[in-house]
Amino acid sequence: MLNIKFVTQNRSIQAEPGETLRSAAIKNTLSIYPHIKKILNCRGRGLCTSCKVEIVAGNVGPRNEIEEKTLAKSLKSNPNVRLACQITLTDEMDGLEVRTHI
Ligand code: FES
Repeated sequence: MLNIKFVTQNRSIQAEPGETLRSAAIKNTLSIYPHIKKILNCRGRGLCTSCKVEIVAGNVGPRNEIEEKTLAKSLKSNPNVRLACQITLTDEMDGLEVRTHI
């Protein structure tokens, strides 16, 4: 079991290795989507950037190909900005801290 802290909500959740950060948040009734994007998002396919988060502490590894492509236009300069739907949690990510609604 992994402990993930969402600093925007000042809340920690428990997550399982192998699930995405997005699915772990949803399972714990924690919204990673701001405003209307709670409804208007790509449902985890890496197409919309609605689930973007900033990694505040911890290491989630390099961006995958989908993130590189989707984030290329506006957010490539900040390597800590990631898509929650594209981060698959591993044991090494215990203690991860993320900021949502960025
Ligand atoms: S939910 Fe659309 S990019 Fe993650």
